Amino acid sequence: MKVLLFADPGIDDSLAIIYALLHPELELMGIVTGYGNVSVYDATRNASFLLALAGRSDIPVIRGSSQPLSGIPTTFYPEIHGPQGLGPIIPPEDFQADVSSFETMFEVIENNIEELVIVDVGRQTSLAFAFNLRPELMDQVKEVYLMGGAFMVPGNVTDVAEANFWGDPIATSVILNKAKKVYITPLNVTNRAIITRDIATFIFTQTSSPYKYLIPAVTNYYATFYDQVMPGIDGSPVHDVFTLYYLLNKDKTYTIQRDVRVAVVDVNRGQSIADLRMVYKKPERKHYIAMDFDYNDFIDDFTRVNLRDASQ
Ligand code: RIB
Ligand code: CA
Repeated sequence: MKVLLFADPGIDDSLAIIYALLHPELELMGIVTGYGNVSVYDATRNASFLLALAGRSDIPVIRGSSQPLSGIPTTFYPEIHGPQGLGPIIPPEDFQADVSSFETMFEVIENNIEELVIVDVGRQTSLAFAFNLRPELMDQVKEVYLMGGAFMVPGNVTDVAEANFWGDPIATSVILNKAKKVYITPLNVTNRAIITRDIATFIFTQTSSPYKYLIPAVTNYYATFYDQVMPGIDGSPVHDVFTLYYLLNKDKTYTIQRDVRVAVVDVNRGQSIADLRMVYKKPERKHYIAMDFDYNDFIDDFTRVNLRDASQ
């Protein structure tokens, strides 16, 4: 399956990029970077660095948005994702990121429109720009996957809001209103997609992939943060990897269809809202929310994919 990935690497974004590169059924067509976990500058360098590690600089890295549509100053998260977004790893100072223009994104979409799906695991500003700039092209995109929101569980940035939806709720609303079909993987599932330190160590001992050292280094860094906020989990949820897993394994997950909206301002900014009552109106839009999944299958899949080497 051909995937155009929007991301803000970021630890779990990096693991998602690695997963997409190593997965035999995924063809990564490009990465559109954006601000979020780190600045767009660091996110772009990190994406380019990850591709270079596996000799895959042929995949375009497209530099996207630097701030939300509202213009409200944004916050980065070095305490969670490391000073430059790859946990303890800093790309060499003389590393030159290979960056493509925003127009390249439209070329990728146009040239692959029949098979392409879009997956956005960061703040959704760049994707909203795409819907604004080329509506007739974006109308043809069959499926969009968003990591974001929190249904029936607390948020992670505020008591009600998840980071990606909170980061640019205007952009998220644009996508929910404009995209033909949207699949959402919110915190209620991704918080449970936990990679333990033992799994990361197991991958390290068994793989010869170019990411052998990086996987335990970034996972353990992320886990140190999660030790404080989710004591006892001994690992870290890999929200963004789960979104790619979900794309290929919807038949093994529990998904519901509801109209979803996002609060744009005030104390509930970024809150994802859907009518989850037993009796509800027939949805008007094609919005699908992941509600449950088979944890063991996810872990088996994550491990299997990460034990492949980049040339397979
Ligand atoms: O809330 C989880 C999301 O926020 C993930 O995409 C993670 O990378 C962080 O940005
Ligand atoms: Ca992310």
